[in-house]
Amino acid sequence: MFILAAAGSAVGLGNIWKFPYITGENGGGAFVLMYLVCILAIGIPIMMAEIMLGRRGRKSPINTMRDLAAADGLNPAWGLLGWMGVLAGVLILSYYSVIAGWALAYVFRAGAGLFNGLDAKGVGDLFGGLVGSPEKLLAWHSIFMFMTMLVVAQGVKNGLEKAVRWLMPMLFVLMLVMVGYAMNTGAFDKGLDFLFSMRFGEVFHACETIDGTQICEFSWQPLLIAMGHAFFTLSLGMGAIMVYGSYMPKRASIAAASIWIAIADTSVALLAGMAIFPIVFANGLEPGSGPGLIFQTLPLAFGHMPYGQLFGTLFFVLLVFAAWTSAISLIEPAVAWLVENRGYSRLRASVVSGVIVWLVGIGTVFSFNLWSGDQYKLFGKTFFDLLDFLTANIMLPLGGVLIAIFAGWLMSRAASEDELKLAHPALYVTWRFLVRFITPLAVFIVMLNALGVF
Ligand code: PFF
Repeated sequence: MFILAAAGSAVGLGNIWKFPYITGENGGGAFVLMYLVCILAIGIPIMMAEIMLGRRGRKSPINTMRDLAAADGLNPAWGLLGWMGVLAGVLILSYYSVIAGWALAYVFRAGAGLFNGLDAKGVGDLFGGLVGSPEKLLAWHSIFMFMTMLVVAQGVKNGLEKAVRWLMPMLFVLMLVMVGYAMNTGAFDKGLDFLFSMRFGEVFHACETIDGTQICEFSWQPLLIAMGHAFFTLSLGMGAIMVYGSYMPKRASIAAASIWIAIADTSVALLAGMAIFPIVFANGLEPGSGPGLIFQTLPLAFGHMPYGQLFGTLFFVLLVFAAWTSAISLIEPAVAWLVENRGYSRLRASVVSGVIVWLVGIGTVFSFNLWSGDQYKLFGKTFFDLLDFLTANIMLPLGGVLIAIFAGWLMSRAASEDELKLAHPALYVTWRFLVRFITPLAVFIVMLNALGVF
């Protein structure tokens, strides 16, 4: 059940929506390689650390961090780490819900047969008609937030785990069907080449459009984006996995769970890439076209494949479901804290946090229409872009490093050895080495480089 809930949190829009579009924006194969290395060397060890802290503390992240720090005679200010997690969860969910709203809208567009026979322009118009309308986006965002808070208000999640058990494998199978379709587009080789061939020369530059001209220069930013995405896609660095760790039974293996979750999560992302890029190239679309990428490619496939109307509807239903299980984990740290420390009922805690998230989400709604013009941008980024950058590339890695430092340097060796119970001493030594040295150094070097500090 723990693995299902954590996989439900990890697999979401990050895999199917975000991974393909940031891969497209950052030149393909070399970016994918950096992301995979980050999952292995940074993501898995930090996931083990985060689950471990959660299982030892068994409270909401803020209280867990404070208690564990107190138990080892450390400064209670470690509770601030929990606070940053709550804030990151609220900010991420605010835009996550808007994008999930797009997927929800597409369930009905697919069901009504609107994709049938469309060409690339038709699909682009359909997407433009949705995101260009603040009223529509606001409505779908509101519906998705309502769905999320409905589940959160009921507390943990009986029906949900059963649903994850069935629907996640279905999503996986449907991704395979999509890859099967992509094989027949005539551009499968080109898609795979984009996804897996290394062209390091094309990766390390950042382009900005200022007054209509594109300016590109050398930049470490793609590495930061790959690393940030490793945290985002595995739900690390903000306490979501810590909350689930607090429900994990003592005898279950933390290492095995972490590895399974990482494998499941990464396979979904790679399948999404293998389904989408062949469609991109077969239709002369632009791989770097941004957050609309899956909404402008997959409908082309559904519009032309046998039973496309059925598959399309099912696909977007499953995507909404995947987003839903992630959204619940994004708000759980905030709700758990309100219940534990403020004495709120779950219902009241859900309403309060849900309303705050919904309000912040309006900024993202406007980012795609009313506020999409240059005069509303900061550093060339819309409100949505800024929020995404700040959370995924700064807050989550920072939270992850603090978790690694806590688990590797401050918690006693006996405690972490006892909690992890790794089958072989060499595995423990490797894990400890990674969280003590490699992860903190890697994250800081990448972050400071990309932000231009050195
Ligand atoms: N991992 C989710 C995804 O890939 O869609 C997003 C997410 C969920 C990020 C929970 C962070 C989190 F705590």
